[in-house]
Amino acid sequence: MGYGKGYGKTILFGEHFVVYGFPAIASALGSYTTAEVKIVNGKGWEVIDQRPATPGYKKKKYDESMQAIKNVIDHMNVDVSCQKLEITFSGDLFAASGVGASAAQATSLARAINDCFTLMLTDEKINEAAYEGEKAYHGTPSGIDNTASTYGGLIWFVKNLDGGKNIMEVQSPKKMPLVIANSGITASTTEVVADVRRLKEANPEKFENIFSNYNDLSKKAKSALLKGDDISIGNLMNQNHKLLQEITVSGDINDKLVEVALNNGALGAKMTGTGRGGLVIALAESDEVQNSIANAIEKKGYDAWKTMIG
Ligand code: MEV
Repeated sequence: MGYGKGYGKTILFGEHFVVYGFPAIASALGSYTTAEVKIVNGKGWEVIDQRPATPGYKKKKYDESMQAIKNVIDHMNVDVSCQKLEITFSGDLFAASGVGASAAQATSLARAINDCFTLMLTDEKINEAAYEGEKAYHGTPSGIDNTASTYGGLIWFVKNLDGGKNIMEVQSPKKMPLVIANSGITASTTEVVADVRRLKEANPEKFENIFSNYNDLSKKAKSALLKGDDISIGNLMNQNHKLLQEITVSGDINDKLVEVALNNGALGAKMTGTGRGGLVIALAESDEVQNSIANAIEKKGYDAWKTMIG
């Protein structure tokens, strides 16, 4: 039997922009998905999915999830023609759009296969296997989700658009309280990423301008995070949310949740991940403010989780 974990993540800055080679900053979450792999009689593989999830999430992502599992098994050269893998996913990471659930699943599986077959793979190799899984969710994943899921911590990530090694730095500055609010809507990363690409091709000048603003913002965000300057981080999150609105990936519920968070003391708030539903994150200066934001979001009828970044 083999066992493995993959962390959930939240993108603090740069979702979508990261697909085009701009830097993004993500933080792994304390919650993770676990995978257990058992070799049983038969051939092929079967999945027992016990992950807690947003209603509808597993159904909507079913085909992609099966393809992702196949990609990881194939990439790791596991022969399933004369043995069968019984794969059980569990853990405390709530599977929802925006929390890196697909990457956490692929990473946990890669680690469990590594353990089951004593492959002795490095984290770099685990990350590569998890990236193959991510390709099932959309053809051009930046790799930020599987990287955060594999390494944990706070990650500055730049995709190498020429196919070489991505730039990745792991930092762990001061811990800060964060609220994650769930719109309850599961978006398709494939569709949203493709839509942004279409819009970019149709409006090259507009996008060039937005990309350039984001590029400046990402550098300020890195420096603010390294200094632990939460006021600046909050302001920059608000600015990043506006840029995401401009590229049309926010949505009515995302915007409403951002407003509720800001009206209840958040230093900054933004959608995170794919968008058009999914999740919103809000930075709080203290545990008390974190509680007020989470309570206000729950009063509006949405789930809110409290976590720490950094
Ligand atoms: C999804 O969590 C993040 C996106 O930027 C896609 C990607 O980076 O592959 C929307």
